Amino acid sequence: MSRQNTHPIWHEDAPDYPTSPLPDGQVDVTVVGAGLTGLVTALLAAREGLSVAVLEAREAGAGASGATTAKATLLQGTRLSSLTQTHDRDLAADYLAANRAGLDWLREFCRAHGVDTQAVPAVTFAATEEGVTQVEQEHQAAQDLGLPTILSDTLPVPFPAHAAVELPDQLQLNPAHLLAALVREVAATGGTVTEHARVTEVQADDGQVELTTTAGVLTARQVVLATATPILDKRTTTMELVPQRSYLCAFEPAPGTEIPAGMFISAESPTYSLRTYEHDGMTRLLVGGQGHRTGETGSTAEHVAALTRWATEHFPGVTLTHTWSAQDYHPVGMVPHVEALSWGGGRVFFAGGYSKWGLAAAPAAAMQMIDLLLGREPRLSFGSPSVLGTVKTTATTQAAVPTTEITNLARAVTGTGDTRGNAPDGSSTEDSGAVVFREGTHLVGESFIDGRSCRVSLVCPHMGGTLAWNDAEASWDCPLHGSRFAADGTLLEGPAVRDLKQL
Ligand SMILES: Cc1cc2nc3c(=O)[nH]c(=O)nc-3n(C[C@H](O)[C@H](O)[C@H](O)COP(=O)(O)OP(=O)(O)OC[C@H]3O[C@@H](n4cnc5c(N)ncnc54)[C@H](O)[C@@H]3O)c2cc1C
Ligand code: FES
Repeated sequence: MSRQNTHPIWHEDAPDYPTSPLPDGQVDVTVVGAGLTGLVTALLAAREGLSVAVLEAREAGAGASGATTAKATLLQGTRLSSLTQTHDRDLAADYLAANRAGLDWLREFCRAHGVDTQAVPAVTFAATEEGVTQVEQEHQAAQDLGLPTILSDTLPVPFPAHAAVELPDQLQLNPAHLLAALVREVAATGGTVTEHARVTEVQADDGQVELTTTAGVLTARQVVLATATPILDKRTTTMELVPQRSYLCAFEPAPGTEIPAGMFISAESPTYSLRTYEHDGMTRLLVGGQGHRTGETGSTAEHVAALTRWATEHFPGVTLTHTWSAQDYHPVGMVPHVEALSWGGGRVFFAGGYSKWGLAAAPAAAMQMIDLLLGREPRLSFGSPSVLGTVKTTATTQAAVPTTEITNLARAVTGTGDTRGNAPDGSSTEDSGAVVFREGTHLVGESFIDGRSCRVSLVCPHMGGTLAWNDAEASWDCPLHGSRFAADGTLLEGPAVRDLKQL
């Protein structure tokens, strides 16, 4: 099979947007991270008359926002029934109301700024007989919360669907277009967006916050970490966010193949999530899913291969054109965090933790954040999870997870010499891979890519987690809080702010 593009299909026709150098002096609000959360927060803050600077480590949309499936919907898999089962109806109602406000905001922003959207139904389907109950429960929870869902026992689709719950008139869009429009609008409202400015230190004192970045120093009265998980944080918020990676594939259909319109997601795990995308005059098929905790799986390339097998089985003749992957964070309390961080002297805030449903939730979080920044009574909230105290103590949320570390180490060590060779489509190649070994007291990872080898320390600079090799993306991934590093140790994402030590 020929090699595919390993970037999101959204990059193919991504529009330009204006960026600025790091501003001089002090601003009212610095937003760290130019994803959906950061850009909407910056725009709303600028509209309130505040001076705003957005600092982005890479490019706008470098995180989940530029790699998302971009289904903006109130029917989110089986989320409403999960919330009512693990919390209570009030929390689920708050969560839904916040998402509704976020979706309304997004819809209006897209309309006002020429971002193309398609109104399509969102559908949660049962891929197996076992999933039927989950679909029925989701319909029940949605109806109980006032959503006009429709339950059916069949779907006109070429893949197994034993039951389905549908919510009409939701949105799908191209996230690159949305992010570019947001950056343009932030600039038009007087804010700045500076790319390649990674924040490495945040010092809050009485009157201001000083941010050290790779592009210089900036001070602000208030700081919003819109970094998916809070960088620099080593306390409760980070411990409560579980990094979840998943995969996406874009396919060109065979001539004459009909791809059903709609945004589909299976109720069961592993998840299969589908939507269409019009590109180059052709309706493409996007298939995503196969999520797992970051740094905690066997071959990541096998997840891409599983999506490809599924698509090829149900849409014969499709050609894989793009594969990519991204991560979002799942809060143990199940609802997003919008809060002041305990170490920030009341001036450093965080918003994130959308469990892969941030298209509507991020604008809602941004609205809540603006009220926090301005000291106003919040107009909306995702609800306060009452079970947080008990969930918090589970092993997977500890700062250190010895069993995970041991598993990763064992996997890496037993994979020595065998981890090389998986291309993004799951096929075997001889030009990439990695081995793990001990050298004295150091745990060393050595990667081999296109004939070049790199040795790095496998101790995560955030809080000492042990990194695992990700063969689909040739990266070292931390299972504790999701930091990821390129094969040469360069930091890619996560709460860490430093590269790996090269050895
Ligand atoms: C595979 C996948 C599919 C998804 N599909 C959907 C979907 O269909 N519908 C839906 O509603 N949601 C979906 N989501 C979730 C949604 O995309 C996310 O919840 C949302 O994009 C998160 O936005 P964010 O701005 O909070 O984070 P991000 O987009 O991750 O932005 C964080 C930004 O912070 C920057 N940053 C990090 N550290 C620093 C630093 N030190 N200094 C400066 N900048 C820094 C990063 O580079 C990044 O640009 C999906 C998520 C994934 C992973
Ligand atoms: S991301 Fe926290 S220890 Fe690695």
